[in-house]
Amino acid sequence: MWKYYNPVEVVFGTGKLEELGQLMAERGMDRALIVSDPFTHRSGVAEQLKQYAGGRVLDIISEVEPNPTCDNVDACTARARAIGAQSIIALGGGSAMDCAKSTAAAAAMNCTGLELLRGKPITDALPIIAIPTTAGTGSEVGWGAVLSDHATNSKIAIFGSPMFPKLALVDPVLTYTVPPAVTASTGLDVIAHSLDAMCSVRANPVSDGLAVRAAKLAFENLEAAFRDGSDPVARERMAMASTIAGYAFSNTGTTGSHACSYLLTAKYRIPHGEACALTLDAWFRKDAAVRPVLHVLSRMMGFADANAAADRVAELKRITGMRTTLTTMGVPDTREAFDELVTNAAASGNMTNDICGATQEDIASILEALR
Ligand SMILES: NC(=O)c1ccc[n+]([C@@H]2O[C@H](COP(=O)([O-])OP(=O)(O)OC[C@H]3O[C@@H](n4cnc5c(N)ncnc54)[C@H](O)[C@@H]3O)[C@@H](O)[C@H]2O)c1
Ligand SMILES: [Fe+2]
Repeated sequence: MWKYYNPVEVVFGTGKLEELGQLMAERGMDRALIVSDPFTHRSGVAEQLKQYAGGRVLDIISEVEPNPTCDNVDACTARARAIGAQSIIALGGGSAMDCAKSTAAAAAMNCTGLELLRGKPITDALPIIAIPTTAGTGSEVGWGAVLSDHATNSKIAIFGSPMFPKLALVDPVLTYTVPPAVTASTGLDVIAHSLDAMCSVRANPVSDGLAVRAAKLAFENLEAAFRDGSDPVARERMAMASTIAGYAFSNTGTTGSHACSYLLTAKYRIPHGEACALTLDAWFRKDAAVRPVLHVLSRMMGFADANAAADRVAELKRITGMRTTLTTMGVPDTREAFDELVTNAAASGNMTNDICGATQEDIASILEALR
């Protein structure tokens, strides 16, 4: 038995941003709050979007931090309430989009970010239009949001179908300004979403098809986008890959690479994609032994087999200057720090979602090789 469900409508194309006002009108969306990050304020993108919306945007909040916190959500929710927002525009990388989606839920349910983080069921949300500015998270087509709580070093994904955006408006032009290091990290996140989706206990023919298409696009275009951020073809294909990977993992969830990333980001402040990339190739090799169809899917991606796909992940990390050891990521070389990483990964729902059924010893052996 398998099933696939994703209700998010997508409009994709260079220059499509200009149609925001019309797209909002067609969907009856008005009185919007744009939730975004400081970059969109500095660059004028948020203001530009407000103009495209033709009076349908009431206000802009642009203080969302990378890896958004519950406090970020509360500040945005307070603003949404103060202006009587009836819809949310989620503009930015995954951080701003996740904060915006959580804000849409918190505003409709009259609750706090911390309540959401602690598992309050998400039963309602203001309607959302999601507009990504990185080619990375695929959050624009997903029902999840990742929130962080600095007090406890926790980083947790929350889910609720009301957080599925009504529309994902993907305009690759927005990604032209992403600096090389962020292009690399977010692009590796796209590959991680695709490969993780294939390694999930919930992988199915639809998600596999989406994941293969997304991975092939990303494998073929990440290096070019990294080397020349103004290459329109590479940027367009990475944006496509990101959204398609989002459709894939919206149903499967993510697996080993993501399980091992959360503490690296929450405690050691490693960017999300770079943290996922650390163990991505190792998990893909391990999973191929359990799910041999990964070799077939890898051939569809243009590789000889799953090991060759994993080799290319390792090569991309090297080319793009990602850190590839725990030491260079700032993890102290102590038993305590190492064990904490293993325990944290083992406790993650992403790990039990992985088809290889990894034990604590398996996780330790993968991380041991990366010390
Ligand atoms: N909801 C999901 O399904 C999902 C999936 C994967 C990751 N995530 C989460 O998303 C977050 C990471 O998102 P991200 O990787 O997109 O990074 P990000 O949103 O944190 O952005 C990284 C940096 O790039 C800047 N930036 C964004 N767009 C830019 C642009 N066009 N030009 C120049 N600079 C720009 C931002 O201001 C920020 O400083 C993490 O919290 C991660 O856990 C969520
Ligand atoms: Fe991710």
